[in-house]
Amino acid sequence: MVSTLVFAQENLEYNSFSPGSIWNDTDGSHINAHGGGFYYEDGTYYWYGEHKDSHSLANVGVRVYKSKDLYNWENCGVALAVSNDPNSEITKGSVIERPKVVYNRNTDKYILWFHLELKDQGYAAARTGVAIGDSPLGPFTYIKSFRPNAGVWPQNFSEEQKNFNSEESKYEWWTQEWSEALEDGLYTRRDFEGGQMSRDMTVFVDDDGKAYHIRSSEENQTLHIALLTDDYLDFTDTWVRVQPGGQNEAPAVFKSGDYYYMITSGLTGWDPNAARSFRSKSMLGPWESLGNPAKGKGANLTFNSQSTYVLSVQGLKDAHIFMADRWNPKNHQDGRYVWLPIKISDGKPVINWINQWNIKDEFLNNF
Ligand code: DGJ
Repeated sequence: MVSTLVFAQENLEYNSFSPGSIWNDTDGSHINAHGGGFYYEDGTYYWYGEHKDSHSLANVGVRVYKSKDLYNWENCGVALAVSNDPNSEITKGSVIERPKVVYNRNTDKYILWFHLELKDQGYAAARTGVAIGDSPLGPFTYIKSFRPNAGVWPQNFSEEQKNFNSEESKYEWWTQEWSEALEDGLYTRRDFEGGQMSRDMTVFVDDDGKAYHIRSSEENQTLHIALLTDDYLDFTDTWVRVQPGGQNEAPAVFKSGDYYYMITSGLTGWDPNAARSFRSKSMLGPWESLGNPAKGKGANLTFNSQSTYVLSVQGLKDAHIFMADRWNPKNHQDGRYVWLPIKISDGKPVINWINQWNIKDEFLNNF
């Protein structure tokens, strides 16, 4: 298969990736699109991310960049703007994180999902938000935010788990009893009526057009994977709990051969930790744990970064790029991007550090 990627355009600044370095857009400013998501259409890649100021609150919104070669990115403005209306859920000063855009072929619309925290509530709201647009560049129109799957039990919950009457206040956090209770569904039951918490998230569209929303839920202790409706604007009643009590954040999903792979981080705020990886033959599990995909020096902190997306390069077989944020909580707009090739070895994803690399050399055998 011939790649549609334009390699190393001569008149442009970059022809390789330098993970962790300042990365200027075509106007010469460091790219401001953290917690990013990617979308490809007609030879162009789009990069959506959190526009950060020195702090992490949303004062601008979701920024979008475009590129034909993945090295050189043009700033295309704000795809979803925060609102000046203090009553809006996405008012200036709210928290908008990890935006992910997908295209819906049934409606010919672009759908943007993100993590939303309401203004002045810290991270208590734990909602997911959705916006819609007519073009990959937006502008996207905000629709709503909510805690998903209210009133619906996960598919992998037993009758016993549904009926068990446990009181949250009974348990002291981080005790053995608490951890057993949460694995058993303490928070799933607590949030049954109001909807499940949704913080770090991503969206994955399968080859059959089905889209899945993957969220860090249950006080960030358990991942949930939910099937979206055919228009990608809502949740169906199909959802599962994954790795109960596993403390996974920052999920990123890709497909290779017969398997779906997921890379996540552990739970340490803005600080890096060791990544995790999983695989499954179905998006709805069961997911098999494969350990830390990062190898070598710096692997225990994922090379000082946290996953946000895995991009499979168009037209190449198994050319997957691990995309991660190196957060800088002292000055968020200076956060860096760590992009590294993923190799599948013995059915497991493997990520090694490389100071500088390019798609052609790294994925030479994938053409
Ligand atoms: C870790 C998450 O992965 C980030 O997206 C962000 O929500 C921070 N926590 C906030 O502390």
